[in-house]
Amino acid sequence: MSILFHCTYENSAEWKSKIKKKFKTKKIISISDTNSFKEVDIAVLWNLPNNILNKLPNLKIIFSLGAGVDHILNLDDYNNTPIIRIKDPLMGELMYYYVLSQILNFQVGINEYKIAQSKKVWRNEILPKFNKDLTIGILGLGYLGSIIARNLSKNKYNIIGYKKNKITKEKFKIYYKNQISSFIKSSDILINILPNTKDTNNFINSKFLSLMKKKSLLISIGRGSTVNETDLVIHLKSNKNFYASMDVFQNEPLSKKSFFWSLPNVNVTPHVASITLIDSAINIIFKKYTKFIKTKKIKSDVNLKAGY
Ligand code: OXD
Repeated sequence: MSILFHCTYENSAEWKSKIKKKFKTKKIISISDTNSFKEVDIAVLWNLPNNILNKLPNLKIIFSLGAGVDHILNLDDYNNTPIIRIKDPLMGELMYYYVLSQILNFQVGINEYKIAQSKKVWRNEILPKFNKDLTIGILGLGYLGSIIARNLSKNKYNIIGYKKNKITKEKFKIYYKNQISSFIKSSDILINILPNTKDTNNFINSKFLSLMKKKSLLISIGRGSTVNETDLVIHLKSNKNFYASMDVFQNEPLSKKSFFWSLPNVNVTPHVASITLIDSAINIIFKKYTKFIKTKKIKSDVNLKAGY
C-alpha cells in the first residue's frame, strides 16, 4: 500500500524525503499519480485540493501535517475518514514562547517604547506590571491552549480559561458557555486560540471587543476566521491603549492593503506562532501508523459534531 503525500509548505520536498526514509518500504505518491490512487491507505496532508479524497477507495487514515484540521474538514469530499492531528508537545512549547514574547512586550511597555522610537521620542518610563497582577484569559483550551496555560501558570500569571463544554481537569478557573462576558471582562491579556468552526466564525467582533479592558492585549494565534477584522481595526483605531498581536488572518498571506501592517498598536507575524517540526511530527505519524497496523484500530482526533 502507498502514502498519498500533499503539502503546500515551502519545504515540502524535505518532508517527502523524510517520510520516505521513515516508512522505508511504502511508496509515496502525489496527487498527479492518479493511477496509483487505489493503493493509498494513508494520506499525509496539508491543504489538499477538493475532489481527491473521494478517489481513494482504500484510505484508512488521514494525518494532518499540523495541529489544525480545518483544511481537511472544509474539503467538499471529506468523508469521515479518521483524522490524526499532530499533537506535539514541542509545538506547544514553541507556541508558548511566542505568546510569552507578546505578553512581555505589552507588560514591560516595549510596544509603547516602539511607538515612541518610530517618532524618535525619548519617552517617560513605564512601570511594568508584575506577573501576579496580570490575568491572562485563554480562549480555547484544546491541546495547544492547555500547554500554553500550564506554562504561563508556572510563571505566576493568573490564568483563566473559556470553554464551550465542561472540563474538570485544569487547576485554574474555567468559564463556560454563557459566562463569556465575565471571562472577557476579567482578562488583561486575551489569547485567542480558537479553531475554525461554524460556531467560532467572527467570534471576536465589536461586541466582544467592547467588553475587553480599555488597556489590554489580544493575541490571536488560532484561526483568522474567528476575528472580525473590520471590527478589530475600528476598535484599534479608537482605543490607543488597546494592543493586538496578530499571527493569523482571514486571508493569508495578509494583503498589502490591510490596516494591520501600519497600525501602531499592532504586531503582525506571518502565521508562525507554532511551527510543525518535521522530525518530531514524522515520528508521531509513524508511531500512530505502526500502532494501527498492529491493532487494526484507530481513534480519530476529531469530534465531527464539534468540528475540530
Ligand atoms: C497548525 C497551524 O494548524 O500551523 O498547525 O496553523
